[in-house]
Amino acid sequence: MMPTGLARYETTLAGLERKGRRRTLIAQDGVDFSSNDYLAFAGSTRLAAAVTAAVQRGVPVGAGGSRLLRGNHPEHEALEEEAAAFFGAERVLYFGSGYAANAALFSTLPQRGDLIVHDALVHASAHEGMQASRAQAVPAAHNDVEAFARAIEQWRSGGGNGHPWIAVESLYSMDGDRAPLAKLAALADRHDGFLVIDEAHATGVFGPSGRGFAADLEKHGNVIVLHTCGKALGVSGALLGASATLCDYLVNRARGFIYSTAPSPLMAAAVREALRMLTDEPQRRADFDALRTFANAELTRKLGMEASGSQILPVMIGDNGRAVRIAARMRAEGFDIRAIRPPTVPEGTARLRVAITLNVDRPTITRMFTRLAAIMAEEKP
Ligand SMILES: Cc1ncc(COP(=O)(O)O)c(C=O)c1O
Repeated sequence: MMPTGLARYETTLAGLERKGRRRTLIAQDGVDFSSNDYLAFAGSTRLAAAVTAAVQRGVPVGAGGSRLLRGNHPEHEALEEEAAAFFGAERVLYFGSGYAANAALFSTLPQRGDLIVHDALVHASAHEGMQASRAQAVPAAHNDVEAFARAIEQWRSGGGNGHPWIAVESLYSMDGDRAPLAKLAALADRHDGFLVIDEAHATGVFGPSGRGFAADLEKHGNVIVLHTCGKALGVSGALLGASATLCDYLVNRARGFIYSTAPSPLMAAAVREALRMLTDEPQRRADFDALRTFANAELTRKLGMEASGSQILPVMIGDNGRAVRIAARMRAEGFDIRAIRPPTVPEGTARLRVAITLNVDRPTITRMFTRLAAIMAEEKP
């Protein structure tokens, strides 16, 4: 018999099922149209060789402890120094994941009496940190600089006397559109505030040598930039670039950094190699630029929709059930496409998130959009 304490979870799961929101784990199968392995680094021989070489020179698999205790391995420190030089940050800290880094930074840096104004579409990990923060957090309409400014002005006129924080993604993970970074940086400066830029989907792909859209801002003392390593860099973890003062503060106060085993030193070695690959394999980024441009044009040609311009190509469906059905039919035909539903995206905006990576070629992209157009026509709204 089921213990009575489990019944409430079954009830919730049944409710999710009714709303077309119940998730299951689906094995990867078919051509990759959903990963964030944009530059095909994850399966590259160069990253594999870097890990093998690291094992051979004695780098351990596990760190064995927190960075503040014995877990601080020379590979972590070498990575952080090289990443600071690469991205142009005063200092960089390596976290075990982007989720952990966002949770740590938002829960630790904004202080009581500060205000966090976040874009309405920022990632769940930023919300995780904001919920634990002592600062008040309010949303601003997506990419609306005026809305950010109004939120700060209202808070100031209501007696807010701390520092404002502006939280955005440089390239939005589910929409593939860009934030107006220069205007937001000017707004942060005008109000003696801070700007947090999550470059998860831009790192490696955009900016000089793949340094991201925030490359010119990364040196500013009031700008914090997050480069996740599990997407274009093909590994795992996240590099948080900020002033030495803020990094030092995180080392002293961020619970997720302090009370957690350090990331695998082998992964640090792999990320070091990924940064070198960005510098010495510029052809990959050039090939990717061309492929991305092609895919955007194909989406518009085959589906008659406007494309995002980036490698993240949302195909809006609206209804949860229809999105799931279309994605399942595409997978059955060998195209690994996933439906993204609320609460990951706003209610009524279920979509297919088509991601372009160097794991696919042009003819496959054309075949995929041709089939998608046909299946969308058959699966009527
Ligand atoms: C915008 C954004 N920030 C942070 C994260 C979390 O990064 P990670 O996958 O390294 O935990 C993701 C990935 O899901 C993301 O899309």
